[in-house]
Amino acid sequence: MKFFVDTADVKDIRELNDLGLLDGVTTNPSLILKSGRDIMEVTKEICGIVEGPVSAEVTAMDYAEIMREADVLSKIADNICIKLPLTLDGLKACKALTSDGRQTNVTLCFSANQALLAAKAGATFISPFIGRLDDMGFDGVELIAEIRHIYDNYGFDTEILAASIRTPDHVKRVALIGADVATIPPATLKALVKHPLTDKGLEQFLADWAKTGQKIG
Ligand code: G3P
Repeated sequence: MKFFVDTADVKDIRELNDLGLLDGVTTNPSLILKSGRDIMEVTKEICGIVEGPVSAEVTAMDYAEIMREADVLSKIADNICIKLPLTLDGLKACKALTSDGRQTNVTLCFSANQALLAAKAGATFISPFIGRLDDMGFDGVELIAEIRHIYDNYGFDTEILAASIRTPDHVKRVALIGADVATIPPATLKALVKHPLTDKGLEQFLADWAKTGQKIG
């Protein structure tokens, strides 16, 4: 499973990229707002840090304007992936952009039928938002399982990008189901390494090592 980081914070992106853990980045208008930066400037900087796809979201709603914004965003860098709304105009743009060889990410997916439409429109990625479904009292991870089943039934190439991930348990569960990608907030991504028994074990090993009085090398 690929790891994307879900942020427009370049400090976090650099840190995770330096660890060798990043396969890409996703942003959205709320994350751009949180960064306090200009979308063109910050997206260009992010594209220079990571080699993989960097999703940048259009904000237009009608086809012609979506295509115009997609063109502007595409010029930022070769690794831009155009993030599109899950609407009829967004799907039409998805078909046109993917036919033109661009990477696309269809976002705000909350149903298997929406994911089916995105795959038929040739999307590179479909982004089901699992945390927001959990917020409504559903099990968001079940949607990932449904989409996996449907895409496998028909051999769709669209990659399932599990989004709105809030916890390490979300990451484990979508990996078990076979999501292709998880886009994870920086803090949750770093939390994946944590286990109390790892900390306890290390503490014991270091204490015993000190008692040996030895040094390696
Ligand atoms: O990847 C989509 C993500 O940014 C939304 O997450 O936590 O706002 O639902 P959240």
